[in-house]
Amino acid sequence: MENEIRSLLETASRLISGAQDDIKALEQVRVRYLGRKGEFAALFKGLVALPDDERRRVGKVLNEAKVELEALLNGAMDLSREKLRSRTQFFDVTIPGRRPLTGHLHPITQTAVEIGRIFSGLGFETVEGPEIELDYYNFEALNIPRDHPARDMQDTFYISEDVVLRTHTSPIQVRVMEKRRPPIRIIAPGRTYRCDSDVTHTPMFHQVEGLMVGENISFGDLKGILTVFVHQMFGPHVGLRFRPSFFPFTEPSAEVDIQCVMCRGAGCRVCSQTGWLEILGSGMVDPEVFKMVGYDPETVTGFAFGMGIERIAMLKYGIDDLRLFFENDLRFLRQF
Ligand code: PHE
Repeated sequence: MENEIRSLLETASRLISGAQDDIKALEQVRVRYLGRKGEFAALFKGLVALPDDERRRVGKVLNEAKVELEALLNGAMDLSREKLRSRTQFFDVTIPGRRPLTGHLHPITQTAVEIGRIFSGLGFETVEGPEIELDYYNFEALNIPRDHPARDMQDTFYISEDVVLRTHTSPIQVRVMEKRRPPIRIIAPGRTYRCDSDVTHTPMFHQVEGLMVGENISFGDLKGILTVFVHQMFGPHVGLRFRPSFFPFTEPSAEVDIQCVMCRGAGCRVCSQTGWLEILGSGMVDPEVFKMVGYDPETVTGFAFGMGIERIAMLKYGIDDLRLFFENDLRFLRQF
């Protein structure tokens, strides 16, 4: 019986290698040898007639032969299936890969970068200052004494009696002037805080400060620099005007309006029918501020300006709701 088993195994393996990737032929081999009525089943039946110890020995040989044949068959099946797959599936190695999702800069950051790029072209260096600021830099050194009514203009987050969250980027003017001598040409972007929250105000927002100090810096320089900025930011045909205003740390002071970007000056809801939109505050650095940092107001002059980045971004991209910047809805952010 052992000889019979051996020769059975030999024929079966010859049939398998002869089947050569023919899945149907392999299936037939399986049925013929391993099927319920196959050759192996018959041999297992034959075991019953053998004496005990012989049955155990032959049974073991038979079992091993069956396991071997199964492995042989499965291997051949897998191989032929794999070959079939590679023959029917065309794999084009030249197709470009799928791009992984990548993020990008927030529109506020993009606007700040754009402002920085324009002023850098005009020779301005970008600097930064602390968001948690001393009352001294935020108010005192900017000619806003402790009980000056001008402090009512800004709702301040106080951390302690002497420490605040900066309400504007103007304290950076003072910090820079304390450390350097003129000529100075800097801009300073950053977060600012005011205790204010409604449809058009958020407790945190962004500003960019600008400061130019030297000998013979005039109001004409202020107008020239800000005109170039507006034309580069919003386009060369956008008109602008300087409107008299007041800030404790500049004298004289002016607010800059640009022609409404929505109606081009005709008058609409966005510009309250005036045709103009305010975009920044500016002025000649007040002599009192120069004195605070130890500059001689008789020999140096300069101008400063400050603008809200959200406001610039809204006007540049035609966004009508401030809250969109802070909700981080990807459907909004992906448009930039
Ligand atoms: N700091 C002022 C504000 O927040 C803006 C400003 C800056 C005005 C510099 C004049 C000069 O409103």
